[in-house]
Amino acid sequence: MPATRSRTKAAARRPSSRRSPSARASSRTKARGVAEPAQMAVYPGSFDPITNGHVDIIRRSLRVFPRLTVAVAYNPNKDQAMFTPAERVDMIREAFADVGDRIVVDSFTGLLVDYADRIGARVIVRGLRAVSDFEYEFQMTMMNRHLKPNIETVFMMADESYFYTSSRLVKEVASFGGDVRNLVPDFVLDRFAPRFARKPRR
Ligand code: PNS
Repeated sequence: MPATRSRTKAAARRPSSRRSPSARASSRTKARGVAEPAQMAVYPGSFDPITNGHVDIIRRSLRVFPRLTVAVAYNPNKDQAMFTPAERVDMIREAFADVGDRIVVDSFTGLLVDYADRIGARVIVRGLRAVSDFEYEFQMTMMNRHLKPNIETVFMMADESYFYTSSRLVKEVASFGGDVRNLVPDFVLDRFAPRFARKPRR
């Protein structure tokens, strides 16, 4: 038997008063069937493009979770996005260049719960704006729970000033030359410019 294993067994046999406080806490937690708190959360989405509503949710998530992976989902067979996955990742990285290694920006294809497993995330973060989001989010949460019961979904409310902001509406308004300043970061406006005949206002 490897030495580490026999040491672990010996430690478990030691009276609880001689174990370290963290070992005692950990065995109490296990005894009640309660999992350790999540260190890594994943915030998935299309992010086509990132909006200030997404930025708000990411900042709130970083107040709650030590580490966050923002994951751009794409489907190579039927992706109708305006921006490539690499462009979407770049824009998110640009928005959080100041945060350091508490945030990772990545892209994935396939099932979200499988991706979460691969990166060791046990919490999925989703933003909720209005009641209209609820039905869709509820279905996704239940399906993800059916697939992987050990992964929890946590909802965050964006600031009320972003309740009507969505990537889809922002793109539509910008494509007709409407004013989307304050709804997306400035560098997103710059990325819209070559795509639309009418330049978005700056
Ligand atoms: O920003 P969106 O488009 O509302 O995000 C939806 C997203 C990417 C979270 C969802 O479509 C997703 O999880 N896609 C990955 C494929 C998957 O796991 N599908 C089953 C979801 S129950």
